[in-house]
Amino acid sequence: METSEDHGNGELNHLTKKPRLTRFITESAIADEFAHHQPGVARINNGSFGSCPGSVLSSQREWQLKFLRQPDDFYFNGLRKGILRSRTLVKDLVGAADVEEVSLIDNATTGAAIVLQQIGRAFAEGRFDRNDAVLMFHCAFQAVKKSMEAYVRRAGGSVIEVRLPFPILCDEEIITEFRKGLEKAKSNGRKVRLAIIDHITSMPSVVTPVKELVRICREEGVDQVFVDAAHAIGSVEVNVQEIGADFYVSNLHKWFFCPPSVAFLYCKKSGSSLDAHHPVVSHEYGNGLPTESSWIGTRDYSSQLAVPTAFEFVNSFEGGIRGIMKRNHDEVVKMGEMLAESWGTNLGAPPEMCASMVMVGLPSRLYVTSDDDALRLRSHLRAYYGVEVPIHYQGPRDGEDGVKDEYGIVTAYVRISHQVYNTLDDYCKLRDAINQIVDNKKTCKTLLIE
Ligand SMILES: Cc1ncc(COP(=O)(O)O)c(C=O)c1O
Repeated sequence: METSEDHGNGELNHLTKKPRLTRFITESAIADEFAHHQPGVARINNGSFGSCPGSVLSSQREWQLKFLRQPDDFYFNGLRKGILRSRTLVKDLVGAADVEEVSLIDNATTGAAIVLQQIGRAFAEGRFDRNDAVLMFHCAFQAVKKSMEAYVRRAGGSVIEVRLPFPILCDEEIITEFRKGLEKAKSNGRKVRLAIIDHITSMPSVVTPVKELVRICREEGVDQVFVDAAHAIGSVEVNVQEIGADFYVSNLHKWFFCPPSVAFLYCKKSGSSLDAHHPVVSHEYGNGLPTESSWIGTRDYSSQLAVPTAFEFVNSFEGGIRGIMKRNHDEVVKMGEMLAESWGTNLGAPPEMCASMVMVGLPSRLYVTSDDDALRLRSHLRAYYGVEVPIHYQGPRDGEDGVKDEYGIVTAYVRISHQVYNTLDDYCKLRDAINQIVDNKKTCKTLLIE
C-alpha cells in the first residue's frame, strides 16, 4: 500500500514503523477499521451498500489528493497505470483469461446498462427480430428490470420472467423453473437473445446454481448470457471461465471492502461482447470497453484506484478473502438458526444455498401482508431499536399452503448478513426487538415510524 508515510523517505519510515505483533488482524484493529460506523446501530444489512474500512478510505483520500495536487501529470502518468493495476488484481482473483476482459465500472447497474444497451441496439438495428426474447428471474433487481424496460422492451424485445421458488429446498427447484421459462421464451419460434441469471438474488436472497444454468442456456441455444453477480465477489468463490457466461458483473463495494462505488464487468473475449460500450461516451469510445470505462470524463476515479488497498485489507485476515467468506457464511447461518429457533420459524433456503446472507422467517403474528407492511416494520426497527435489516414480504401463492409457524402462515423474512465487523449483540438486538413487538401484541399495521 502506498500511504502518506511512504512519500519522501521510505527507508526511514520502514525503521520507524511499529512491528506487527500478530500475523493476522486483531479484533481491536477490526473495530478501529470500522470506527466510522454510527455507534449503536446493529448493521445486519451489509448486502445493500457494503462497508469500507478506514485504511481503504485513507488510500482513497490519497488518490484524490494525488489528482488534485497535479491533475495533468496524474491524468497522463498515473490514472491509467493505477486502473490497470486494479484490473490485473481483479483478473487474477476471478480467473479471467486476459486483463482485457475486465473493465472497472461504477456499479452493477452500469454493468446492466452496458449489456442491455447492446441488446437494444441489435433490436433497433434489425439484427434481432421483433419479439425475440430475453429471459430473467421475476425477482431480478429492480434497476435491472427497469433497464430491461428502457433498453430492451422499448426496442421491441419480449421479456420472459422465471419465477424463483421461495422458500426453497434445493437447486433442482430453480433449474426446473428455469427450463420452463426457456421453453416459454422459445415458443412461437422465437430466439432467446439473452438470459440474465442472478448469481445471488437480492430479495429474497438465494445462491443460484449459476454454472448449471449457464450450461443449460448454451445447450438451449441462448445467444448471450449475463450473470448479475452484484453480491458475489467476496461472498462466494468466483471463476468466470468455469461459469462460462458472456458477461459477469460484480460490485467490489458490497463484499470486497472497496469504497463506493466500483464494480468489475467481465466480458468474455470473442463473439458477442465486442459491441459492448460504456453508456457514457467520451474520448475513448471505440477503443474497447476497459479503456472506454477508464475515462468517462472528469470525475473522481479514486474508488477504482483504491482497489489494491482492499486486497491488502482482505489479506490481513487468516485465509484472505476465502477465510472471510467461510467465516461470514458459518456465522450468518448460525445466527439465522438462532433467530429462527427463537421466533419458531424457519430459514428460507438451506445453508448450502446461502453465502453471507440468510433469509429468516418472521413470526406470523406480525401480520405482514404487503410490501408496505414490510417497509414499515423495517423503518420501525431502525427508528426505535437501532436495527438495520431488510425485510421481504412473501405473499402465499394461489394453491399453495405456505410455510407455517405455530400461529399461521409465515409471510415475511428478514435478510440478515454477516461481515467482519458484526458481533453476536447485533443479532440479539434484532431477536429481542421482534420478540418484544410480538409480546406487546403489536402488528406491523400498528407500528410507529419516524
Ligand atoms: C442482484 C443485484 N443486482 C444489481 C444491484 C445493483 O447494485 P448497484 O446499486 O451497486 O448498482 C444489486 C444491489 O443490491 C443487486 O442486489
